[in-house]
Amino acid sequence: MEHLQKKILQEGKILSDTVLKVDSFLNHQVDPVLMQEIGKEFADRFLGNGVTKVLTLESSGIAPATMTALELGVPVVFARKKKSLTLADDLYTAEVYSYTKKDTNQISVAKDYLAKNDRVLLIDDFLANGQAVLGLMDVIRQAKAACVGAGVVIEKGFQEGGKQLRNQGIKLESLAIIKSLTNKKVTFQKEDVT
Ligand code: G4P
Ligand code: NA
Ligand code: NA
Repeated sequence: MEHLQKKILQEGKILSDTVLKVDSFLNHQVDPVLMQEIGKEFADRFLGNGVTKVLTLESSGIAPATMTALELGVPVVFARKKKSLTLADDLYTAEVYSYTKKDTNQISVAKDYLAKNDRVLLIDDFLANGQAVLGLMDVIRQAKAACVGAGVVIEKGFQEGGKQLRNQGIKLESLAIIKSLTNKKVTFQKEDVT
């Protein structure tokens, strides 16, 4: 996705050798035109996989996940990070540890919105160590639904998540893969290289 790479190069702020800030189009302000292209691209890449539902994690996953679901003509569900007022019995929950934030979040999805005949596509904004995707996959497993794969907008190729998920045989599609953020420069990896 050339448009996405261009946005990252033009508007991304390198905070350190491992963190890229993209608040101007993905994590705070949202660029709806870019988001629509992202949705179309994910929909193309997972067309023919029989997706019945898109699943993401609040908050920054919601925009790309919604555009993808719109293209595929299916609903989108976002897992919540905050404790819900709903009875725990009515929820699927998983623990997600963030290496970046050194903090564990409990994520939850109401049982009403995932069924055992669902074929679920996971979408998220960033892939670093893969803990969010693994937590969402745990939720899908609890629902006895099927996971058709995961799409992430930006994969940090120098962290372990992508490798781990691909090694487990998960279909993972990343629209931009960052090879390095060192020397105050963003370097991309070819999309098909793992
Ligand atoms: P992991 O799921 O791949 O293991 O990622 P990790 O725990 O390290 O990420 C924690 C949060 O930080 C996630 O957002 C993730 O999207 C975000 N993140 C990780 N690396 C980067 C980065 O280089 N740049 C930016 N902008 N974000 C990064 P979150 O806490 O779920 O927040 P939200 O934005 O979805 O609300
Ligand atoms: Na996220
Ligand atoms: Na995020």
